[in-house]
Amino acid sequence: MCGIIGCTGVKNASAVLYKGLLDLEYRGYDSAGMAVLCDGGIVTVKKKGRVCALSAAAEELRGTSGIGHTRWATHGIPSDENAHPHTAGKFSVVHNGIIENYAELKEELVSQGCSFSSHTDSEVVVHLLNRCYSGDFKDAVLHTVRRLRGSFALCILCADSDGFAAVKYRNPIIVGKGGGALFAASDMPALSGLAESVAVLKDGQIAFASHGEMDLCDFSGEAQALTFSPVPAAVRAAGLCGFPHYMIKEINEIPAAVKNTVHAFLEERCFERVTRAAKKRGFGNIFLCGCGTAYHAALAAAYSAEELLGIPARAETAGEFRGRKSAVGRSTLFVAVSQSGETADTVEAARTAKQRGAYVLAVTNVPYSALTSVADCVVPVRAGTEVCVAATKSYCGQVAALSLVVSALKGRAECRRTLSELQEVCSKCASAISGFSAEAAARACASSSGVYFIGRGIDYPVALEGSLKLKEVSYVPGEGYPSGELKHGTLALIDGGTLAVAVMTDIRSGEKTASAVEQIYSRGGRVAVICSPGCAPRGIAERAEFYAELPECGGMLSPIISVIPLQLIAYRTAVMLGRDPDKPRNLAKSVTVE
Ligand code: F6R
Repeated sequence: MCGIIGCTGVKNASAVLYKGLLDLEYRGYDSAGMAVLCDGGIVTVKKKGRVCALSAAAEELRGTSGIGHTRWATHGIPSDENAHPHTAGKFSVVHNGIIENYAELKEELVSQGCSFSSHTDSEVVVHLLNRCYSGDFKDAVLHTVRRLRGSFALCILCADSDGFAAVKYRNPIIVGKGGGALFAASDMPALSGLAESVAVLKDGQIAFASHGEMDLCDFSGEAQALTFSPVPAAVRAAGLCGFPHYMIKEINEIPAAVKNTVHAFLEERCFERVTRAAKKRGFGNIFLCGCGTAYHAALAAAYSAEELLGIPARAETAGEFRGRKSAVGRSTLFVAVSQSGETADTVEAARTAKQRGAYVLAVTNVPYSALTSVADCVVPVRAGTEVCVAATKSYCGQVAALSLVVSALKGRAECRRTLSELQEVCSKCASAISGFSAEAAARACASSSGVYFIGRGIDYPVALEGSLKLKEVSYVPGEGYPSGELKHGTLALIDGGTLAVAVMTDIRSGEKTASAVEQIYSRGGRVAVICSPGCAPRGIAERAEFYAELPECGGMLSPIISVIPLQLIAYRTAVMLGRDPDKPRNLAKSVTVE
């Protein structure tokens, strides 16, 4: 959701910014730009489209300090004018977040004679800086940030200063240093290869980088200590390694993601931490929250938790949770699930739950994220950097981590059983990936007017995830549905043009899903079946347009395996239809606005 970067003390700022923007492009890719300090002035280039559209113009820029931005539009359409940086007078600004009081600030600034050249909320920041400036860069920044409401990570250039300022409030900023240069960026991978050591800024902090020194203060101007540590090896993304897209590379990394998540659970003594909290609090109910794919992992875990632990467990999308008064209190275990740990709705839901007295447990792939700073306890997902906007390996890591949490709550024996089953799941994932050809199913999806993914029990969250994956990367419409619900309305949409993908990993519910499949056949619909051995009743597979048998799987770990064919189908369909599966339209990987 917008990526920002700043640097000073480098040989060629535009080359550094350009490389950093390519690394940050997953955060938004509708326009990009950079500004460089050049002979006492600021030179800005910005363009609608992907970062590569900047390459020729960036090569012309000469300077040792600059800021850059890659955008996911919130206020104002993707265009050259709305692209960042916004430059006026002595200042240039890049922004990630939303300035919630921008309308009133704009009115005030316009009445004072400022003229705006974009439709963004962010442009108010650059005009405020000019208004507050009387020769002292720090003073102007402090006065400006105190006027802003909402969420903002900013990098700011001032023509009278040789460096930049980086501001953090509810959106991430990591600062770094190395080789005499100083940096700031929205995430750590963008700094790997540039910085030798890094520090994660906290809300309400501002770093001023100049002449090889970085000074930190809070919004009142009071100096604060800044401690750098080496860039963790795990954040260094490895490139495509011969795969045509990150999506398929990351699907192939699922076995490693699950294995590393299991190691992390043991290494970080998560069993002990979870059970200690359970003993102290005596959890009477469990709430699980997340958005999109993370919500689907949470929903699967809610089903398992209620079945295994016999206490109420429910999953909700983070945005919905915040909007209503739910039964959350001191005896609630609140589990926030997020790959990035940055998703604004999930982080705010965790904050709300904590305020209401709940014990907050975060399941996340990013150990230094906003979510980890809110949580009482973190259970890591160690899927490695996920570059493709569509989540794949992180989902499987989330299901593994959540299953371990649920089984830990049941007791040591259950947790041991889950740990040993997860070892087998890793090799089953590998055979599900290599043994599945998605071509025929992808052809069927690509030619369908709508694809309905259906499942019951633990297969329902997987159906939701299969549907989300197909929609987001191939743009083929459809829905995930509980198989028993089709007959209550949605059957009206079934005809020869639609396809239903039935997921059946549970023998108990397989027969019920089979009834839904019969209803679809009776209305001329086409069906694809993905099932565990023995779960599809006789007569179902034979008539399916496409049939695939999964390696033996069932119970709470089955989503790790049953999702794989659905991810592969989505990927192949996207490629078949000429879409870019790594950067689908209108999306960004990190959704840092509410
Ligand atoms: C879908 C997808 C999104 C994310 C959602 C939450 O493929 O990636 O639905 O799952 O935006 O993101 P995180 O997990 O980072 O909180």
